[in-house]
Order: sequence, then structure tokens, then C-alpha cells
Amino acid sequence: MHHIAIFASGTGSNARKIIEYFRGSRAARIALVVSNKQDAGVLDIARANGIPALVIHRNAFYSTEDLLRGLASHAVDFIVLAGFLWLIPPYLVRAFPRRIVNIHPALLPKFGGKGMYGMHVHEAVKAAGEAQTGITIHYVNEHYDAGDIIFQAACPVGPEDTPGSIAARVQQLEHRHFPEIIARLL
Ligand code: GRF
Repeated sequence: MHHIAIFASGTGSNARKIIEYFRGSRAARIALVVSNKQDAGVLDIARANGIPALVIHRNAFYSTEDLLRGLASHAVDFIVLAGFLWLIPPYLVRAFPRRIVNIHPALLPKFGGKGMYGMHVHEAVKAAGEAQTGITIHYVNEHYDAGDIIFQAACPVGPEDTPGSIAARVQQLEHRHFPEIIARLL
């Protein structure tokens, strides 16, 4: 049985899909939700599903390795970033080699890097006049959006699209694919 930690800073719609997907699974369970925001929606989702949650603070995250103890106490062996905005520090990458994955709401290497998150991504896709966008699931290293790509799925973008309509289409792809790809990687 694998023990997955989901790191998220936001509403947690991907976290919810992943939790639902693994409910009742004999292969893995969501053992912990980690957030850097006390009021993140993902913490409500964790609570509603009886999943322990940990709120982390910037100083401790970057200048100590305390989080490793928290992860170990829940026997975590795989980390999923689902809308987690902080850069992962080297000690964490080293402790989980090719065991940390992230989902990015565009077709990397396009529209990635620092500051490219949420609506900024979809606004940039719209402004560039792209004919398609999509999702990228990739391994995590010490640089934003730069680890090896595991999976991509694309969707069309038309002239009538707005950043909001692009975001909705991309989110559908995320929800459809992310849990299955995680299951395949365990
Ligand atoms: C997703 O678009 C994901 O690609 C990005 O952050 C967003 C998280 O959304 N990394 P949600 O909190 O899962 O709804």
C-alpha cells in the first residue's frame, strides 16, 4: 500500500479528484494533505474526507528539514503537487527521487516557469494566439516546471476563447488524467 501526500495551496479540485479516485483502492491511499495556506479550500476537503492535514510555514519549509519527519510519520512514499506554488527545496527532492510529480496547466515547456500559474498561464496562452493548450504532468526538481515530462494532453483554443473558457477546458483534462497517471507511477 502506497501512502500519498498531496501538496496544495488552493481550492483543491484536483486533490478532491485524486482522493475520490483512490478511495477504496488497495494500491494507495491519500495519507496526508500539506498546505502553505491556513485557509486553503483543500484543507476543508481533507477534513471532510478524514485525511490528516499539515499547514507549513515558509521559514521552516526552506531552512529546516522538519517536514521530512512529518511525511515519515504518515509513511508517505509519493508526493503529488496539485496547485502548490512554492518551489520544492533540494532536501525534499533528494528525499523523494522521482517520487514527486506536479501538474501544470499548459503544454510545457511553453508557458511555464516562475509566475506562470493559475490565470496567468491562460492569459498568456490567449495573448500568444495559440491554437492549442493542455496539461503537463512532470517530475519535480529544484526548478519551476523543469523536471522530466511524464504525460501531456492537449485541447484546442479558438479565437472566441477567453482565459476563463480555456481554464475550464484545461481543468477538465486535469481531472480526467491526473489520478490515472499517478496510479500508473506508484
Ligand atoms: C491546477 O490548474 C494545476 O494545474 C495548477 O494549479 C491548479 C490547481 O487547481 N498547478 P485546484 O486547486 O486543484 O483546483
